[in-house]
Amino acid sequence: IQKKYSVIASVLENANIGENAEGWVKNLRVQKELIFADVNDGSCAQKLQIIIPKELKTDALTYGSSVHIRGKLSKSPRGQLELVAENVKVLGPCVVLDGYPFNPRTTHPPEYIRQYIHLRSRTNFLSSILRVRSSVTKHIHDFYSSKKYLNVHTPILTSNDCEGAGEVFKVQPDCEDTIKAMMQDGKDKDTVYFGSKTYLTVSGQLHLEAICRGMGNVYTLGPTFRAENARSRLHLSEFYMLEAELAFCYSLEQLQNHIEELLKYIFIETRHTNEADLSLIDKENSKPPAWLQKKFATLTYDEAQDILKKKKVVNTENGLNKEQELALVDYCNGAPVFIVRWPKDLKSFYMKECQDDNTKVEALDLLAPITGEIVGGSLREDDYDRLKSKLPSDKLNWYLELRKFGNIPTGGYGLGLERLLQTMCGITNIKDTLPFPRWPHNCSM
Ligand code: 4AD
Ligand code: MG
Repeated sequence: IQKKYSVIASVLENANIGENAEGWVKNLRVQKELIFADVNDGSCAQKLQIIIPKELKTDALTYGSSVHIRGKLSKSPRGQLELVAENVKVLGPCVVLDGYPFNPRTTHPPEYIRQYIHLRSRTNFLSSILRVRSSVTKHIHDFYSSKKYLNVHTPILTSNDCEGAGEVFKVQPDCEDTIKAMMQDGKDKDTVYFGSKTYLTVSGQLHLEAICRGMGNVYTLGPTFRAENARSRLHLSEFYMLEAELAFCYSLEQLQNHIEELLKYIFIETRHTNEADLSLIDKENSKPPAWLQKKFATLTYDEAQDILKKKKVVNTENGLNKEQELALVDYCNGAPVFIVRWPKDLKSFYMKECQDDNTKVEALDLLAPITGEIVGGSLREDDYDRLKSKLPSDKLNWYLELRKFGNIPTGGYGLGLERLLQTMCGITNIKDTLPFPRWPHNCSM
């Protein structure tokens, strides 16, 4: 079986279906003498057509049921591989009338599918997205591995708020015995466990910088948390961020070239591994985006503001709002665009001041179709005294001290994995890019 399986597997893009097909019935067509069942095992977008003689039919064989089918592989008159069943075993029936929410003859909109988070993986739409997500993760690790970057696991529990935006989730023990025992030290509830207020991390950057200043290029891909009250199609309370810190990074251009190379690599490799998934998620994805062949544009923040004024896309607040970000992508013919040299007061304390203008910092945002901001990054302030004057809290003295012993110039960035998937797959709502989305009022499983 193993030998035969591997032949079939290569034909069906590594599907775990061969002469013994195990999987879920995605569609069922009953004809006079024969039943046609499309079976998929989750490993790829393709389905294997199973031909079942009518005498093998049982009532439990419906769409949505899980099956184990033994049979003989053959080629259909159209040259397609199909399995002629000799034995059909329904492992798990799916009683459609008992409330199964999906129907193979209907294209359910994502908002409908999202109502059934625990059953979503039964749909072709979410299955394809999760396969793309898994492949993208692999390509990310391949990219950094080929460049000899160190993969660092930064902590999820931390006492600092890297972005300084106050959008942190506080962590404290919920165990009365532990609290009682530790309270004897005279601490309050917030600080009783670690001795200082502790949060779920909003970014691993500061920890990456610590390792980078001893070992060179580093990256991390892990969950980050933001207690934003943003119920938008672009924000999650828990999301995955890819962060890298480049050692000996002297210019924003060096950082931009690296980000552009990374993004193009991931897009191209995912087209190779998941073409069928990409077109299944959105037909518009059948062709790679034209911008993959071109260099990303760069605009300074001031240039971007001039363009927006001319386009009459104005904003009463400082910075760029979503409409403006998307207008700038539009201005660049739907291609990603770097916005560089931001006003200092719009960005975080750790960013390096521009040498020729101390009101600006060497920061970048990369704006992309569908999402707008997809990457945020900067050169890091490496002047000890300047950083000291901007340090938001003396809890970050350790971060300041990194500049004291064998300091090097570094630059880094964070790329939101979910926003990357939105741009890549044409997914409007970020909640459809991961299996269990968390957003305000939604963390029930
Ligand atoms: O621009 P941000 O806040 O940058 C940082 O956290 C830096 N410390 C990263 C670094 O330099 N190492 O976030 C980076 C990216 C954003 O561009 C966006 O793609 C994503 O993280 N992001 C979110 N994605 C989903 N939901 C949210 N609430 C997000 N907030 C940020
Ligand atoms: Mg940002």
